Amino acid sequence: MTVDALDLIASDRYGDRGIPYAQWAELRRSPLQYMEPEGYESFWAITRHADIIAVSSDPATFCNGEGIVVLNSHQLRTEAEGTSAIRQMKTIIEMDPPDHRRFRKVASGFFTPRGIERLDTIVRTSAQQVVDGLGPEGEADLVAQVAQRHPLRVLSTILGIEPDQEERLLELTQQLFAADDPDLRREADSRQQAIEELGMEFFTMFNAIIEDRRAHPRDDLATMLATATLDDGEPLGMLETLGYYLIVFTAGHDTTRHALTGALDAFMDHPEELARLRDDRTLLRTAVEEVVRWSAPVNYMKRTATRDVEFGGAQIKAGERLALFYASANRDETVFDDPDRFDIGRDPNRHLGFGWAEHYCLGSHLARASITALLDQLADRVEVLERAGDASQVASAFVVGRKTLPARYVIRPAA
Ligand code: HEM
Repeated sequence: MTVDALDLIASDRYGDRGIPYAQWAELRRSPLQYMEPEGYESFWAITRHADIIAVSSDPATFCNGEGIVVLNSHQLRTEAEGTSAIRQMKTIIEMDPPDHRRFRKVASGFFTPRGIERLDTIVRTSAQQVVDGLGPEGEADLVAQVAQRHPLRVLSTILGIEPDQEERLLELTQQLFAADDPDLRREADSRQQAIEELGMEFFTMFNAIIEDRRAHPRDDLATMLATATLDDGEPLGMLETLGYYLIVFTAGHDTTRHALTGALDAFMDHPEELARLRDDRTLLRTAVEEVVRWSAPVNYMKRTATRDVEFGGAQIKAGERLALFYASANRDETVFDDPDRFDIGRDPNRHLGFGWAEHYCLGSHLARASITALLDQLADRVEVLERAGDASQVASAFVVGRKTLPARYVIRPAA
């Protein structure tokens, strides 16, 4: 089978044809391949679990500073034009050591397992409320009614966004970051203009919160970011603070949403797995990992070689790009038994859904808590959950998942 590079990287292909599992399986069996898709930057496709671990463990050779997505020719053009503040903002995912570690430390205390325990009530209440919102029985799009609402509530709370601003924040991030999907894109004279306008609105919204927390500190992430200093005591600049807000919200929202839809989707195909969870709640620990392995919402991250290097039998030149396909690593047959089986009891489960090493997901404990709370609600309350039409996929190759997931359900009231 010859692999069409566009299947790996073109957002519309993901929207139309879904995730390229067969292509990745082929690539995992082949020597490392250099992909030159028409209309995109070229890249080495890194599809094997062991190769992704090796690349991620060597940030000096494979850096993030040159960007994390494989750009298409349109993005390359706007990148060259881009002067807006939102484009100049570097967030931690685009930093390399030593700066990366200094900036990551600013918020890492908040995201530890103990830090996240403080959010237990918020997370559980949110999960219960979104399931309550479905009513006892009916039909709904589970992306809109469940999966997207739960992380929105949790993240808005920790970032200090009032409930009446949540919907607007959601629209803004979708328009800024799901820009490849024509259904979600904002109407504007140009993409550049849209980014400027959206960026300004973001700034205004977050800035008001930052100012409020500087004047009236509370025990939340918003206050931690608004009053943060680096290890040398230097306060974070305004753009850096706003950048942190943006990365926490954007990195946390769509990813968790897609993991939750991945779980709902998988349970509709495998109701016996939901029944297993209902009967044995100790499986929550492994179920949450399997949901992240299975759904792999972050499809890939880009790295750029900082020097000529031999890797995986290939000669990689300085400046060449590598795309680390986590979703492929999560189905690597040399690591996982029966990788295409959704098994909520899978243990061990060394998935790479949260990445590896230097940039390992900062919000992984919060994501786990949010997913666990929803799975617990589903296990407690779902009597019937079945498809009520075809699901559709977001036209995105970067953060991937369902755009719509129509379902019919019967739900028990909360205990
Ligand atoms: C199921 C949900 C999630 C998934 C699958 C996910 C996945 C990832 C992945 C793959 C990376 C890059 C790792 C690498 O390059 O090695 C990452 C980084 C990151 N994630 Fe998550 N994430 C999720 C939820 C969250 C949440 C809830 C937050 C915050 C509230 C968050 C914040 C971040 C941040 C700030 C980074 C950058 C870390 C760094 O550069 O050091 N993520 N995530």
